[in-house]
Amino acid sequence: METFQARLARKLADALAAADLPQAGDVTPATDPRFGDYQTNAALVLAKQRGENPRAVAQRIIDKFDVAELCELPQIAGAGFINLTLRSDALEEQTSGLLHDERFGVATAATPKRIVIDFGSPNVAKPMHVGHIRSIVLGDAMARIAQFLGHDVIRDNHIGDWGTQFGMVIWGWKNLLDREALERGPIAELVRVYKATNERSAADPAVRDACREELVKLQGGNAENFAIWQECVGLSMREFARAYELLGIRYDIQRGESFYNDRLPGIVDRLLNSGLAEISEGAVCVFFRDIPELADKPCIIRKSDGGFNYATTDIATVDYRLDDLHRDTVWIETGAPQQLHFRQIFEIARREGRHADFRHITHGNILGEDRKLMKTRSGENVALQDVLDEAIVRARKIIEEKNPDLDEAEKARTAHIIGIGAIKYADLSQFRMTDYIFSWDRMLSLQGNTAPYLQNAYVRIRSIFRKAGVDDNSAESVTLIEAAERNLAKRLCQFAEAVPSVLNDFRPNILANYLFELANSFHAFYEACPVLKSEEPARSSRLALCGLTARVLQRGLDLLGIEVPERM
Ligand code: ARG
Repeated sequence: METFQARLARKLADALAAADLPQAGDVTPATDPRFGDYQTNAALVLAKQRGENPRAVAQRIIDKFDVAELCELPQIAGAGFINLTLRSDALEEQTSGLLHDERFGVATAATPKRIVIDFGSPNVAKPMHVGHIRSIVLGDAMARIAQFLGHDVIRDNHIGDWGTQFGMVIWGWKNLLDREALERGPIAELVRVYKATNERSAADPAVRDACREELVKLQGGNAENFAIWQECVGLSMREFARAYELLGIRYDIQRGESFYNDRLPGIVDRLLNSGLAEISEGAVCVFFRDIPELADKPCIIRKSDGGFNYATTDIATVDYRLDDLHRDTVWIETGAPQQLHFRQIFEIARREGRHADFRHITHGNILGEDRKLMKTRSGENVALQDVLDEAIVRARKIIEEKNPDLDEAEKARTAHIIGIGAIKYADLSQFRMTDYIFSWDRMLSLQGNTAPYLQNAYVRIRSIFRKAGVDDNSAESVTLIEAAERNLAKRLCQFAEAVPSVLNDFRPNILANYLFELANSFHAFYEACPVLKSEEPARSSRLALCGLTARVLQRGLDLLGIEVPERM
């Protein structure tokens, strides 16, 4: 089932061709219901290009615009917009078609991609902090949406499990470790040891040298150091897994940086042999002299001390993803500071003749109420685990107030769904590049553009069905009489327009905002139109609209990685 937007866009293209006009403009949902349901700016764009009167151009388009089966007569508005109002029977037919469609009209991609998505990707021996939420939930939402659209997706956690910090971690492990503290809180103890070692090595060159020696031994395969490293990685992975479990995140593979170690020497040789890399001051570098912004920013792939680095590993990662995983599309979700790094990595891939669609997807920061990077009172990063735990505790309070009669198991489950949902939605409902302020009160509010508001809309609909004594509605079609039911139906039809557009520029906030509008339309409908108390055939039709709304809300939230409770 093609969306209204797609059908109207096709008809517009035909009209432009028939009117001997070049293709221009697009069809978008109307910004204001007074302007109908959809509009096109084609006449405005063409008039500007050709120096003609926009309203006259609009009339030429309308004369050939064959939309009678979908719309009322197109109207010219303002400077030359063409406004389109859907016919009720067309809307009824489209909405009825969604009632028993598990995809709610969302088409699968015409050319499915083989995507690997690298997201989350935390570093070992450090706790995940609140900032990690962004990459985790954005990456997860994109993976879910891509999969729903029929793409073949591999989710990869590119754990930072190798690097110079292990010199200090290992020295600290050997000299400062408190075994009991490690039992109690492994990552906290690793961090304490790392920090203490860092301070000592800054003050004492002998410690610094000793740390370096530990690193060289690790890299040389020394068994003792290797075992310590393995234990550190294991402890961290277990802690990460707990957070992923709470967040409902899963990975298909977790290829840490260390996975690529064996490949690194070969990569440097290859780039030297092909002439893409050269030796400069003892280091092996790739220069980008022909790219002005990169001209003075070479990418070092082997340091002058012979060590490989983050960039070398990422070149190996490109190889693995393209050659071993057979991916044609690579999405990497990290904070904005890594932009230069990936620009260089993708440029090197291009120079090596790699053909894949490489995308670095970045995001802004999470701020505290003071509008600075979110920190604890003592200036530390806020641990992710603490945030997740607190979310659930706070959600629990809301449930205790709202619905004290739920049984214990349902309260616990619902608190989890609401708390975690609130955190995820607060993130995903923002444009990813925008910095946002982390506010418990706002994200857990039952009013406004929040997860609890959407979950509550779902819960209200479920309670309508409980009252009706049926689980869902089996109506085959809807009848749209009132403006509010017509508006709700239109929104439901637009799910299939919103979902694919998320991937154009990786904006889950488009879907979040869609769901918010849908919930608003539902509430307006529910206020204007009695459901259970109305007469047939309105009753069945309205119940069908309710059921469809609940399922679209549930599916839409699921694509954002958010669950819905039955009651709250
Ligand atoms: N571990 C890195 C960090 O915490 C992110 C890794 C991103 N992915 C990659 N292929 N480099 O900054």
